[in-house]
Amino acid sequence: MAQAPRVVRTIPALRRALVEFGAATTALVPTMGALHEGHLTLVKHARKRARRIVVSIFVNPTQFAPNEDFGSYPRTWRADLAALGELKVDLVWAPTPTVMYPERFATKVEPAGPAKAGLEDKVRPHFFGGVATVCSKLFTQVQPDFAMFGEKDYQQLRVITQVVQDLNLTPKIMGVPTVREKDGLAMSSRNAYLSPEERRTAPVLYRTLKSSARRIKAGESIEAVLNVGRDDIRQAGFALDYLEARHAQTLQPVASRADGPIRLLVAAKIGKTRLIDNVAV
Ligand code: PAJ
Repeated sequence: MAQAPRVVRTIPALRRALVEFGAATTALVPTMGALHEGHLTLVKHARKRARRIVVSIFVNPTQFAPNEDFGSYPRTWRADLAALGELKVDLVWAPTPTVMYPERFATKVEPAGPAKAGLEDKVRPHFFGGVATVCSKLFTQVQPDFAMFGEKDYQQLRVITQVVQDLNLTPKIMGVPTVREKDGLAMSSRNAYLSPEERRTAPVLYRTLKSSARRIKAGESIEAVLNVGRDDIRQAGFALDYLEARHAQTLQPVASRADGPIRLLVAAKIGKTRLIDNVAV
């Protein structure tokens, strides 16, 4: 078995480890743990960019609403370390909640633009404030040259790109294509919540995205295609939050393909589990 990677949990220990890296290019892969092949693919992409790879594991309380799954979010620390050891990750940054948010912590990054596009933010209004704050802190703590984010969380990728630009933070943000199960379901730590029956239904989201993209590309009306897609998703047994066509960069609504590159984004709940996905048109 490969050696477990070095783990640091405090800011001074992180500083010492980074000093040892010297001038080597560094890539950060921020995660909340419960690692799967999607996360590990980000690590493999990081390896192509940088000599040193830091993976952060921190289940960030500020991006969960009180009614969400912070308490039950899957935590698989030993398996995570073993997987990161196999990939020869140089450092695991695993701050405790009080290291990240000491008593009297009082400063927040409040993103707008893509963070207010009326997608995830509509259902989870607190979410991108928490993500932007923790990622800004992670970038300041680790000072990476690159930071890897999955296209799976497409709005998050756009928000972080905007935050880094607006606050002149240092890492270059790299988007990595979504890693999927064989039947198309986007890999997610939350897939572990699905019952066998829900798991069989779950790929409807990706199938609907793909068929909608194909029809929009063929020139059909965007709104008509989306309405069919929304019906299909509901018929399969999901509670749909949104199925939308947006400008791939700004996430603003688009009326036709002439408005620019289009991204289709979906979020829906099956049973108690909320799934999101997206594709390019
Ligand atoms: P988490 O859900 O653990 O995801 C960490 C990173 O893995 C994100 O960039 C996410 O987009 C990427 N990822 C997840 N599933 C993927 C898949 N199937 N294919 C490709 N990439 C995938 O996203 C978060 O954590 C948090 O919001 C975080 C950025 C760490 C801030 O707390």
